[in-house]
Amino acid sequence: MPSSKKTEKWGSLIGVVLAVMGSAIGLGNFLRFPGLTAKYEGGSFMIPYFFALIFLGIPIAWLEWTLGRVGGQKGFHSCPGIFRILWRNRISPYLGFLGLLVPVGIFMYYILIEAWCLYYAYLYLSGTFPLYKGGNAYIDFFQNFTGMAQDGILFDTEHSPILLFILFCYLLNMFIIYRGLVKGIELVSKIGIPLLFISAFIILIRVLTLGTPDPNYPERNILNGLGFMWNPGTPEKSFIESLMNADMWLAAAGQIFFSLSVGFGVIITYASYLKKDDDVILSATTSAAGNSFAEVALGGLITIPAAFVFLGKEGISDSVFQLGFITLPNVFEKMPLGAFFGFLWFFLLFIAAITSSISMLQPAIAFFEEGLGTGRRSKYFYIIIYYINWLFICSIFFQGSNCIR
Ligand code: ALA
Repeated sequence: MPSSKKTEKWGSLIGVVLAVMGSAIGLGNFLRFPGLTAKYEGGSFMIPYFFALIFLGIPIAWLEWTLGRVGGQKGFHSCPGIFRILWRNRISPYLGFLGLLVPVGIFMYYILIEAWCLYYAYLYLSGTFPLYKGGNAYIDFFQNFTGMAQDGILFDTEHSPILLFILFCYLLNMFIIYRGLVKGIELVSKIGIPLLFISAFIILIRVLTLGTPDPNYPERNILNGLGFMWNPGTPEKSFIESLMNADMWLAAAGQIFFSLSVGFGVIITYASYLKKDDDVILSATTSAAGNSFAEVALGGLITIPAAFVFLGKEGISDSVFQLGFITLPNVFEKMPLGAFFGFLWFFLLFIAAITSSISMLQPAIAFFEEGLGTGRRSKYFYIIIYYINWLFICSIFFQGSNCIR
């Protein structure tokens, strides 16, 4: 049933564009994308990536913005509700159910990684990160605090700080969405996105001016780092051979869906709070372009080139967690002012993560409001999300070494 109460609307169009950008720019941009690019011969990956962006991502974003705005005008904000008015059939709301489940599923694991980022930022800021220990220090540290080292290890009090960080991130997410669309999500995005771009530019300038940090390895210079990331093909595989890899095309399409937050209910819900005459095509294109800029021009230019100049080709991993939480701390260790840049990097990741994780909850809130007739501040919503979140987290902690790879 559509809500009889006056529904919320975004405060401004720039606010909603930043909120959609906030949802889109996330860990996928700064960790997943560089990992995939390194895996699929750098520049070659850009061809399927831009194909998927132009022929899948942007058109689906246009569609979601348009359908969301239509649904909102008719008083619906959740995928099941919007699907129902689009196709008057008994099964249509059930098809829209995926638009609730997928974002809630992403939220469950996202909050965990968000807490890792905040934990690392705190450790760098407070000077307690195990910097300059060398060897396997970073691997051991990561395996212990994530629970990978041993099943159930995180319930040992010695390893408990991460539980507090997870609880803090969880409460912060709930607090933001509890404040509502304009005072919560829009405000956080208006502050967070500029802060994220400023932090990323500072790190990028540092990385691009690294030159050849170790004269013993003249080939490990920033130009070769950029070449490793962006040249199409490798000495082992030509450009054409790379392009023939069907897995790469699938991976690029998957990256576009994940990165743009399209196809799983977030944008359609966000767009349902637009005003009747708000533009959709330019807004959708702007947010998609902002996301790809952050991904290609910031994420892609920072991580792999930085790792290359300090660790060489052999030191680079295409595993997302390894790249972010083990390889990059190794890089910061070797960089002048490493603790500062380490803090800035993980703080940036935390901002990218939180502006995405709050967006994953809005589809479910909209469903509670219109499907169950409860308000945004319904205690049932918070209790249910809290309950399934902690079940998920506890299961990871008990099974840590099997789940986190
Ligand atoms: N779009 C979000 C990301 O890229 C989920 O991480």
